[in-house]
Amino acid sequence: MENKLNEKIRNKDFLDKVVSAEEAASWIKDDMTIGMSGFTLFGEPKVFPQALANRGKEENFKVNLFTGASMGPAADQSMAEADIIKLRFPYQGNPVLRKKINAGEAGYIDQHLSHNAESIRQGVLGKIDYAVIEAAAITEDGLIIPTGSVGNSPVFIQEADNVIIELNLTAPKEYEGLHDIYIPEVQGEKREAIPVYNMEDRIGEIGIKVDPAKVRGIVLSEEPDIPSPLFDPNEETQQIADNLLGFFDKEVAEGRLTKELAPLQSGVGSVANAVLSGMKDSQFKDIVVASEVLQDGIFDLIDAGVVKFAAGTAFSLSKKRVDSLAEDLTKYQDKIVFRPQEISNHPEVIRRLGIISFNTALEVDIYGNVNSTHVSGTRIMNGIGGSGDFARNARIAIFVTQSTAKDGKISTIVPFVTHVDHTNHDVDVIVTEQGVADLRGLTPVQAAEKIINNCMHPDFKDQALDYFEKAKALGGQTPHVLSEAFSWHEALAENGTMKK
Ligand code: COA
Repeated sequence: MENKLNEKIRNKDFLDKVVSAEEAASWIKDDMTIGMSGFTLFGEPKVFPQALANRGKEENFKVNLFTGASMGPAADQSMAEADIIKLRFPYQGNPVLRKKINAGEAGYIDQHLSHNAESIRQGVLGKIDYAVIEAAAITEDGLIIPTGSVGNSPVFIQEADNVIIELNLTAPKEYEGLHDIYIPEVQGEKREAIPVYNMEDRIGEIGIKVDPAKVRGIVLSEEPDIPSPLFDPNEETQQIADNLLGFFDKEVAEGRLTKELAPLQSGVGSVANAVLSGMKDSQFKDIVVASEVLQDGIFDLIDAGVVKFAAGTAFSLSKKRVDSLAEDLTKYQDKIVFRPQEISNHPEVIRRLGIISFNTALEVDIYGNVNSTHVSGTRIMNGIGGSGDFARNARIAIFVTQSTAKDGKISTIVPFVTHVDHTNHDVDVIVTEQGVADLRGLTPVQAAEKIINNCMHPDFKDQALDYFEKAKALGGQTPHVLSEAFSWHEALAENGTMKK
């Protein structure tokens, strides 16, 4: 143990700070704000939040939990179960917490992930009392080496009054060298251009600088990285992937893209996985991935020569890849980099490099507005994540969705979305298993014709055309029958189906 500790804590100023998770958890007071590392379950502390949740079962207190993005069983789940989350920010995806939020028992603020660090620096969310950061090591220079995500950890460490490091003794030492930590200067003062001119450019340090005086304690953990489920493509997601790749083929044939495409951002989940796996047999090669989250498929694509470099802020990996991570980190060392989410998702970099983005929609309307977050306009699903950062600034902003949900009872293409995350101005292309609607250069009425004809499920086409014809008869640039715009959702609420 002592050898392991000396290997992991290489700066002697930190060696006497080791405390138990229970002691560290006892420092947290009611209404404090904790900035915790973690993004798509990777890089999240495990023993500290569990100890805090255990304390919450005995004592009455609540905290504000800020993270990079979604957290797993130790943080979001245990803390929600213990009912100690007063406010959650900026992205979540845990079913227990989601239920509490939708029941009004926990607050939630959803924000573009690239904006979080600026809001924290501006102080509009209050101060960060404790940063709690999972680390793979502390270097001789006192840099904290993050584990499988960077997320908002640098700004949490920079802005927090106190820092607790959860040092993971089982984290692969190969994490060291994966990260590129760059913290922009204050806006409007010394802020300069972010010098990422190629995704491969390394612009920062391998770890996060911390003032040792701020580090109140180091908690030791031996908990492994948390895997995510792996979605094998099904018939529908495979068809969406084929349609999307067909769209890329057309762009190449028409001379707007080359076989290297442009730096590619993909959302996470079933469709993204199907697209990545479909790319293995495509004509594309030497692609640069410029994403937020890197999934399993990336490693296979690097092996196949399809992807030459991948940048993001976090992993989201299946059990198989978690088990081989140390080996993979060595193998792909010069091909992968993780940056803070304010850099991986930065509009300046996305626009400069001309990134192509594709993300998943919950519902899309006939004019191309996208709802990614709210079921029937009211109940939060996860959050906007980085989809808005990328879509607004992308060279081509693509949204994918299956054309129906819940066994065909819901059409994901509706007359009017019940909540707008991405306005039609930020949406270039819609892809479903039915087909592709390329909306670039179209008027709203032309866009609606294309979306209904190319992307809608046949079961809903007639009722969509019926709505659209009635709307057009009333006139306007973007015709609607306002009294009927949400009638499909009303039918769903009343009869359990949008079918009329
Ligand atoms: N109305 C109601 N429910 C719907 C729906 C709709 N229009 N469309 C989908 N759903 C349900 C599905 O039935 C499924 O329910 P289940 O979990 O009970 O099976 C659930 O929503 C998830 O849908 P699924 O088709 O499995 O897609 P997904 O797992 O890829 O998630 C989003 C889709 C939109 C929730 C997810 O992509 C997301 O949170 N996006 C926003 C953030 C983002 O884009 N991040 C990436 C940026 S880098």
